[in-house]
Amino acid sequence: MPGRRLRETLVKFTDITPYIGAELTGATYQDLERPEVFDELVRNVHERQLVVVRSIELTAKQQIALASRLGRPVPFVISKYRHPEFPEIMISSNEVRNDKPIGVARVGNFWHQDSTFVADPAPFTMLHGVNVPGTSGHTLFASAVDVYDRLPEEWKRKLADRTGIHTVAKRLRIRPEHVGLSAAEFKAQAETEHPPVRHPLVRHDEVTGRPYLYGSREYMEGVAGFDANETEEFFTLVDGLIQDPEHVYTHRWTTNDLLVWKTRTTYHAATDVEPGVNRTVHRVSIESGEQWAA
Ligand SMILES: [Fe+2]
Repeated sequence: MPGRRLRETLVKFTDITPYIGAELTGATYQDLERPEVFDELVRNVHERQLVVVRSIELTAKQQIALASRLGRPVPFVISKYRHPEFPEIMISSNEVRNDKPIGVARVGNFWHQDSTFVADPAPFTMLHGVNVPGTSGHTLFASAVDVYDRLPEEWKRKLADRTGIHTVAKRLRIRPEHVGLSAAEFKAQAETEHPPVRHPLVRHDEVTGRPYLYGSREYMEGVAGFDANETEEFFTLVDGLIQDPEHVYTHRWTTNDLLVWKTRTTYHAATDVEPGVNRTVHRVSIESGEQWAA
């Protein structure tokens, strides 16, 4: 059938940078419903850490259907930022309607791997750019596999078998109920509410077997057994490797882009949205239900 062949030739994956990312162009939702296209997408997520599907029109229901083929979409913890009909979708937005924010204002404007401060973070994140400016609000990505590869050999030796201590406490904002607490009291309260979690610093990808670095400054308290100087040296080294412009992919959004990344092997950071510009993204966090092996 000539029409079918034409469709197949239009749908194609291309590597974005040598280090991270594959881009799928020419695909519709119906293409992604085909097992051979979806399997190729999953393969690229595992090999390339991040897949960008350019300009794909999706309803919220279709986004959840796609997410469900990767694992189990998890409803966002804060119910007021959930999509009104689909609790699995978290609305990330700076838009205000009838004096009420329609979603959570942009978070994650620092380099991180998603939710490393919990014991078993959901392994995939999926974003759909519902209303996105192309001129700001970019998302930066770097591969944790590539970051590990570029560690100096002496650091690879030094970090082997080490444990990272992860915490969300550094990123918590002072809320009204904290007014009046001293900095030390606020820190103590944050740590009681969100106790630190330990993960091996170097892990191996379950699918590819490749080693990757797990952790960075903003979600980490430190490295077990390191003193303050060694910890700072580690953070500075890792910041430099993650942010090396030669190795970073900057995603400049176009309307309806769909991004899927592996949370464990992908560092990313949000950038600011220019004043007066609306931006709305639908986010789904996806659990695998499988035990996480070190
Ligand atoms: Fe994130």
